[in-house]
Amino acid sequence: MERVLVVDDAELNRELLCSMLSDTYLVDMAADGLEALDQLTEHRNDTAALLLDLCMPNMDGFAVLDSMRTKGLLKHIPVLIISSEYAVEVENRCFELGVSDFIHKPFESSIVKNRVKNAIELFSCKNRLEEIVEQQAEAIRRQSQIIRRQETKLRDEQAFSYLLMEFRSAIVEVETKLQVLNTEFSLKYNRNPFESIKSRLKSTESIFEKMERKGYPLTVDSIREYLTDVAGIRVICSFPDDIYRLADLFLRQDDIILLQRKDYIAHPKDNGYRSLHLIINVPIFLSGGKKYMKAEVQFRTIAMDFWASLEHKLKYKKHIADADEIAKQLQDCADSIARIDSQMQEIRNRIDFSRE
Ligand code: GTP
Ligand code: MG
Repeated sequence: MERVLVVDDAELNRELLCSMLSDTYLVDMAADGLEALDQLTEHRNDTAALLLDLCMPNMDGFAVLDSMRTKGLLKHIPVLIISSEYAVEVENRCFELGVSDFIHKPFESSIVKNRVKNAIELFSCKNRLEEIVEQQAEAIRRQSQIIRRQETKLRDEQAFSYLLMEFRSAIVEVETKLQVLNTEFSLKYNRNPFESIKSRLKSTESIFEKMERKGYPLTVDSIREYLTDVAGIRVICSFPDDIYRLADLFLRQDDIILLQRKDYIAHPKDNGYRSLHLIINVPIFLSGGKKYMKAEVQFRTIAMDFWASLEHKLKYKKHIADADEIAKQLQDCADSIARIDSQMQEIRNRIDFSRE
C-alpha cells in the first residue's frame, strides 16, 4: 500500500480524510508543519502524496513547501493543499511553489480519492518522462562525445589527409578527361561542349556532418565506401544536348565505371531542380599502383546553374519570409529556363544547319 501524509491542525479534518483514504492508502497524520517535515524526512522515499493545510500553528503550510523545496522533496512528492476558501492569489502562489492540486472543503469522499489518485499518477508519469528524457539526453551527450573524439582522432590521422589527397587527385583526373574532350571538340567541330568546370573537395566539417547524419562510423574506410560526393565536379554546358553528348563520351572511356546515374533533367525534382548526376569510380595512379575513387559529376546548363545557386540560397537560409511563395516562383522559373534552354538549342541547330 502506498503511504500518504495528511497534515492539518484540525483533528476532525485529519480523521475525515484518513477515513476516506485508508481503504486505498496507508495514512500517516501530522498536526503541524514541524511534525510533517519529521515524517517526510523519515519516509522521503515511500510517501506517495502529501495533503497539506496552509494555516497551522508552529509552522504553516508555506514554510513546509519552502523547506520541501530546499530539501529537494517537492520533486518527488506531489502536494495537495487542503483548503477552505482561499483567495485566487493564494492558490496561484501555491501552484507557483509547485503544488499539484487543491482539495476543497467540505470534503467529498469520491472527489478526495480521485484527486489524490490523479495527483499520484500524474506525478509519477511526469517523473518517469523526465527520467527518460534525462537518460536520452545523457545517451546523446555520450554519443556526441564519442563522435567528437573520433573526429579529433581522424583529423589528426595521416590516413585521413592521405584520403583527401586521393579524392583531390580524382578531381584532377576527371577534370583532365573533360578538358581533353573539350579541346578535341573545339578543334574538330569548332565549338566547346562545356563553358566551365567548377570543382570542390567536400570540406572536413561537411564530411563529418554527413557521416554522422547517415549513421556511418567515422573511419577512413567508411568515408571511402559510403560518401560518393567528397570529390565533386560540376560541368556547365551551353545547351542541354551537349550535356548528354559529353556525359556519354565521358562514360565511354574504359577506365570510368558508372555507379549511379540520376537524370534530373528528364525527371526534374519537385522544386524544379534539373541536372544530370553521375556517380562514378575513377582510377588514380599512385606510387603503390592504381586505385579507384568515387566522384560525383554534375552536368547542367548555364541557366540551370544560375537557377540552382539561387535555389541553394533559399534552402540553406532559415526563416525566410514568404518562403512558400518564393519556392513557387522558383518552380515557375525552372520551367521557363527549361523552355528557353530548348529554344536556344533549336536556334543553334538552325544556325548550324544553315551554315552547312
Ligand atoms: P545529398 O545527400 O545532398 O548528396 O543528396 P543525394 O545523395 O540524395 O543526391 P542528390 O542527387 O539529390 O544531390 C546531390 C547534390 O546535387 C547535392 O549535394 C546538391 O549539390 C545538388 N542538388 C540536388 N538537389 C538539389 C536541389 O534541389 N537544389 C539545388 N540547388 N541543388 C541540388
Ligand atoms: Mg551530395
